[in-house]
Amino acid sequence: MVNEKRKERDREREKGAEEKDLKTAATKSRMWQDFLWVCVGGAAVLYALYSWLIPAAVQYNGWWALLWHDLIVERMLDALMGSTRPQRLLRAVQKNSTRGDPQSVISAIDHFCRHKEWAMNVGDEKGSILDGVVSEVNPSTALELGTYCGYSTVRIARLLPPGSQLITLEFNPAYAAVAKQVIAWAGLQDKVQLVEGPSGDLIPQMKELFGVKSFDLVFIDHWKDRYLADAQLLEECGLLRKGSVLLADNVICPGTPEYLEYVRNSPRYESRYFKSHLEYTQAEDGLEKSVFLG
Ligand SMILES: C[S@@+](CC[C@H](N)C(=O)[O-])C[C@H]1O[C@@H](n2cnc3c(N)ncnc32)[C@H](O)[C@@H]1O
Repeated sequence: MVNEKRKERDREREKGAEEKDLKTAATKSRMWQDFLWVCVGGAAVLYALYSWLIPAAVQYNGWWALLWHDLIVERMLDALMGSTRPQRLLRAVQKNSTRGDPQSVISAIDHFCRHKEWAMNVGDEKGSILDGVVSEVNPSTALELGTYCGYSTVRIARLLPPGSQLITLEFNPAYAAVAKQVIAWAGLQDKVQLVEGPSGDLIPQMKELFGVKSFDLVFIDHWKDRYLADAQLLEECGLLRKGSVLLADNVICPGTPEYLEYVRNSPRYESRYFKSHLEYTQAEDGLEKSVFLG
């Protein structure tokens, strides 16, 4: 009798222990499920923030757009992918455009920058204003300050009349290496001379290095604090003739107030603003076209 009761108690104890184990296992599995949902949900929220919400929120403010695309996203992707933005842009060109077809190179870069990664090219919208000015001036010698990956170089060079030349200056060797490949991919290497070095050192050597008398067109698109100094250097070096055109990008965002003040108020220039948007955004930016009057 006593034995029976003991066995009964042992059975109940075992049953209780089994039920406890089952409950613990169920709680653990629910915790894992919850954790998984939090991870999936968190990843979805981060993806939505990264792909749509933040880009949509910053696209009307140039400074926020530059902070997001040019600092945060670029650094993050460089670290995650082990490559640089210009290298990724070059791969997109090689994958999505036709060798020897400049228009397809331009479209591949614009597509990459609108759908994958923003980049500091003049872009498609201001690019068509640039095209208009290049076609109007029809330069036989043109200078570009700031090549980056060669987007605007390709845009300008594809419109140049036969026998004309475009000299483009870039002081970052990594950007210059990519630009050379983009220009060659577009089949424009014979029209373009890419020179590596700082504009302040190279401008005074233009006559000696390339036998240039003066430039018909100068596209100014390097660091903004150099616009005024380099425009005045071009004047001092006698590289502007009556009728030479300076076309400056980003005069509103990031902005070049001293340069604008100079070309708009100097009797040596006739200047006009072309309103547009910062590349691949809706924030205001524009180009300033200034004709040198001598
Ligand atoms: C806005 S990006 C040029 C974009 C390019 N024009 C386009 O639209 O495709 C400016 C470039 O100028 C270069 N740069 C800045 N200051 C320079 C200088 N003083 N001399 C030569 N290159 C310069 C930078 O390294 C950068 O690649």
